[in-house]
Amino acid sequence: MPSALASAATVIAVIYSFLRALVYLRHGSREPKPIVGAIPYLSPLYGMLIEQDKFYKRMRDETHLPIYTLNIPGVPVYIVNSLEVLQRVDRHIDTLPFAPMKAQTCKKVCGVSQAGISKIYGNNLLAQDGYLYSHQRASAQAGAPGTSLNALSRSASKVFAAAFDRVEARGRTAVDLYEFVHDATFNATTDAMYGPHNPFRTEKNLNDWAVFEAGLPMLFLGFLPGILARRACKARQRLVAAFIDYFGNDKHLDGGSLFVQLTNRVNDSTGLSLVDKARIEVGQVAAATFNTAPGAFWCVWAILSDPVVFKDCRKEVMRLVDEENGTHTIDLARVRTECPLLVSTLQEVMRFYDTAASLRLIYEDTMLGDEYLLKKGGAVIMPNAVFHTDETLWGPSVSEFDHTRFLKAGHRKSSTKHPAAAFRGFGGGHVLCPGRHLASTEMLALMALILVRVDVVPPGGKWPAAPIGLSAGRALPLPSKRMLVDFIPRAAGKWRVIFTDEDNSGVSLVAEDMHSTNS
Ligand code: HEM
Ligand SMILES: *[C@@H]1O[C@H](CO)[C@@H](O)[C@H](O)[C@H]1NC(C)=O
Ligand SMILES: *[C@@H]1O[C@H](CO)[C@@H](O)[C@H](O)[C@H]1NC(C)=O
Ligand SMILES: *[C@@H]1O[C@H](CO)[C@@H](O)[C@H](O)[C@H]1NC(C)=O
Repeated sequence: MPSALASAATVIAVIYSFLRALVYLRHGSREPKPIVGAIPYLSPLYGMLIEQDKFYKRMRDETHLPIYTLNIPGVPVYIVNSLEVLQRVDRHIDTLPFAPMKAQTCKKVCGVSQAGISKIYGNNLLAQDGYLYSHQRASAQAGAPGTSLNALSRSASKVFAAAFDRVEARGRTAVDLYEFVHDATFNATTDAMYGPHNPFRTEKNLNDWAVFEAGLPMLFLGFLPGILARRACKARQRLVAAFIDYFGNDKHLDGGSLFVQLTNRVNDSTGLSLVDKARIEVGQVAAATFNTAPGAFWCVWAILSDPVVFKDCRKEVMRLVDEENGTHTIDLARVRTECPLLVSTLQEVMRFYDTAASLRLIYEDTMLGDEYLLKKGGAVIMPNAVFHTDETLWGPSVSEFDHTRFLKAGHRKSSTKHPAAAFRGFGGGHVLCPGRHLASTEMLALMALILVRVDVVPPGGKWPAAPIGLSAGRALPLPSKRMLVDFIPRAAGKWRVIFTDEDNSGVSLVAEDMHSTNS
């Protein structure tokens, strides 16, 4: 036995040295430095797939490298640690594009036909006048501050107001906090996008959506979806039918948002079929709702669970409530401009809880500056958590949740100074979330209404530590357990919740939306 063990050990040692050597041999001298880990190929793979953000942060702190090569079997993968390198990656629109990820999503998540995919690819997937860039420009226009955003926000506010009216009518009510936030933001976003003919006003389509949403991670993986995500595929088929009805009967022209109007007129010279358009729309709903629900949940969590944050924020937003003859009026448009603490809290939530990672495919060998060679066929991963927890960017308070961090200079602690570009909650560079103003407006509206309209009592009267669960591909994690809270209506009498058109502000959280580079 001992000799068998010894020879096994020798074999392992030989294989190990061979793999280590292979890692270095295959590695070009100009590529970023390779990280091998305890077991070549396996340790990095385990870190990337299982540990994720925890692994990336550990690698950053252990290596102090601006960018490194993660040696996993098959493809070269480069992980970016420094903001400066990230900004260089962002500039290589044509060789490190996002478009192939979008095309993959159309195929795997939306189930677009092979003919449709060919049309999306066209002669050149990256053509500026092709389908994907045209779609990007249309979404950016529809989501930008102005009349379109105000109309979306007004519609969303109506849905929120109605949800609170129903709560009030019932008196003290037990509410599953995540479910409430999810349903409210889902209803608000889809009503805003699709207008009076929103397909998601029926129980049937909402149930199908729940099934489809649960299957999304599996569809993204794209491994035997017909078997492993069978129910999700069936539900998707029925949702596609609902959108065929919506677009086929021109229901989008009767009160549908500019978002829907514009994205359905994008440059698709060869003509996508109605059914492929309907499939892509299912993906659009996913993009618009998948991250908003957990984002809104942690915003609500942040203002309710910490007594200091709660007191500051309620005081701030109560100033917007006017009472006359027993009617309380709040204009949710004013939250954007007159509640800097709420806005700062929202942004700190997005910094603190963010689990998104930007992924770019390498189309051509690309040099970043003169320093780093990224090899064609590989991928670049830029995990937001790495930038959001970098002490050199955020200062010594980086690991604390500080709801005043994003106030204007002079109103916050000097120790929270940071470069505006260090915030990556909605992406950056050429891949900036077009729904950022809508999502932010919704999250702020929900925070404001929770603060002014109800008192919230946690289970057992005490808020536990944040129940951070898995993110399963979302930009923020889901809660790890259900939180059954009590909503107690505060002011008896009627409420008037409005969203006025008086100014065209958006919610400027990303550097690209600001005028100065330092906040
Ligand atoms: C809290 C809510 C949201 C978060 C955290 C979020 C986050 C992001 C991030 C980080 C990206 C960039 C991805 C990358 O760099 O690889 C992105 C892209 C995108 N988001 Fe959002 N998003 C949210 C809400 C929305 C909404 C409401 C919509 C639509 C109405 C939307 C539509 C999109 C689309 C279409 C893209 C792709 C952009 C492109 O093609 O250039 N998102 N989002
Ligand atoms: C559509 O393509 C034309 C040229 O082919 C271009 O000028 C126009 O900007 C494109 N439209 C959009 C919305 O991208
Ligand atoms: C969302 O919409 C559905 C269907 O119209 C409705 O049953 C549900 O009460 C709504 N929920 C919220 C929180 O708005
Ligand atoms: C409130 O009541 C006063 C006196 O009854 C009346 O003059 C005023 O118009 C009322 N305001 C509103 C908004 O109804």
